[in-house]
Amino acid sequence: MSCPMRNGDSDGSISDPLGTDAGMVYGEYLMLDKILSAQRMLSVQNNKPVHDEHLFIITHQAYELWFRQIIFELDSVRDLLNSETIEESKTLEILKRLNRIVLILKLLVDQVPILETMTPLDFMDFRNYLSPASGFQSLQFRLMENKLGVKTEHRVKYNQRYTHVFGTDADAIEAIVSSESEPSLSDLVQKWLERTPGLESDGFNFWEKFQKSVNDFLDEQERMAMHEKMEAARNYRLMDIEKRRDVYRSIFDPSVHEALVRRGERRFTYKALQGAIMITFYRDEPRFSQPHQLLTLLMDIDSLITKWRYNHVMMVQRMIGSQQLGTGGSSGYQYLRSTLSDRYKVFLDLFNLSTFLIPRHAIPPLNDNMRDKLNVIYGLSSEKANHDGSATSNGKN
Ligand code: HEM
Repeated sequence: MSCPMRNGDSDGSISDPLGTDAGMVYGEYLMLDKILSAQRMLSVQNNKPVHDEHLFIITHQAYELWFRQIIFELDSVRDLLNSETIEESKTLEILKRLNRIVLILKLLVDQVPILETMTPLDFMDFRNYLSPASGFQSLQFRLMENKLGVKTEHRVKYNQRYTHVFGTDADAIEAIVSSESEPSLSDLVQKWLERTPGLESDGFNFWEKFQKSVNDFLDEQERMAMHEKMEAARNYRLMDIEKRRDVYRSIFDPSVHEALVRRGERRFTYKALQGAIMITFYRDEPRFSQPHQLLTLLMDIDSLITKWRYNHVMMVQRMIGSQQLGTGGSSGYQYLRSTLSDRYKVFLDLFNLSTFLIPRHAIPPLNDNMRDKLNVIYGLSSEKANHDGSATSNGKN
């Protein structure tokens, strides 16, 4: 099979299958003349060539290209999610694209060790030429953060003024302003979670049932603890149960939830959190299987970006130590280390869902109506689905 980008015949000669003289060849299609002539080594220009500067440039360029692809996928996913109703065929496409982002991020995390083959001494040989250039000025990195849902108030102090590095670059500023004002992936995911079937207070009313289940479960635990003969063990268990009640209060009392949101310790709206918990509990039901996959991919994205930050910080310490300023003017290693906290986790609440889980036997059972709703496809009852055997979770059959 010949490469689709090369208009070559099987004998190797170049022909023009479109019948036009303007047929494109591989390099032309990919504009390789531009990409492959973009490795300007400052050490060469300064007549002191440093071999590893080439790797430094290529690595950054490769990152920027992949950032571009991530943004491309992210924009399309935001478009697909930006609707009151999301057909399940769209959910499949959303999953496919989020999974692609996850795979790219894995690649980006794994790319760090390649640059680490450069020694700090080699880096020192050309570092001075770079100043004041720094990854801190990567527009695409900031756009990616914003489009995912990183908010200015959650950034560490030094980073809250990240726009100033773009000075009077009107295009950059416009792109940043749009990325900050458009609904982020996190905003759209929350809207979608708020519509989780089963949350309706005049319907299945999951939240009320969940609260009752938690209370029954903790009461039962308390009764069992009271049978403990050893006083110290009994007191320990009772104290533990009381702590659990406090933890649950943080989700059942909306005012506690709002206080945590104000402190930046929780990000999701109250209703979105309920949707996420419900999907987690009933993820084995066909209709919640894809939503649950989606939530998992969102956590993967957050955790891979955190892993990239960590690998980058380690590389920075190895290259310039922890006492030197960055070429971008920050405190360098110290600044980067501060970005490793939960502040930058957009889907922090999903990671913390495990705090609120209860054992399977205590999960509120679904009633017939709800089971019917969650079984298979929108608008197709489980009875009918079982009857004609077309039960799939993607709604395509
Ligand atoms: C020898 C390798 C590297 C060193 C020593 C280094 C050093 C630094 C330092 C010190 C900072 C803090 C800002 C400042 O400059 O004051 C920074 C930020 C940053 N660097 Fe690197 N870097 C390296 C490689 C890379 C690579 C390959 C990328 C890929 C794109 C990258 C992307 C970034 C980004 C996005 C930031 C901003 C992070 C944030 O503000 O959260 N860096 N880097």
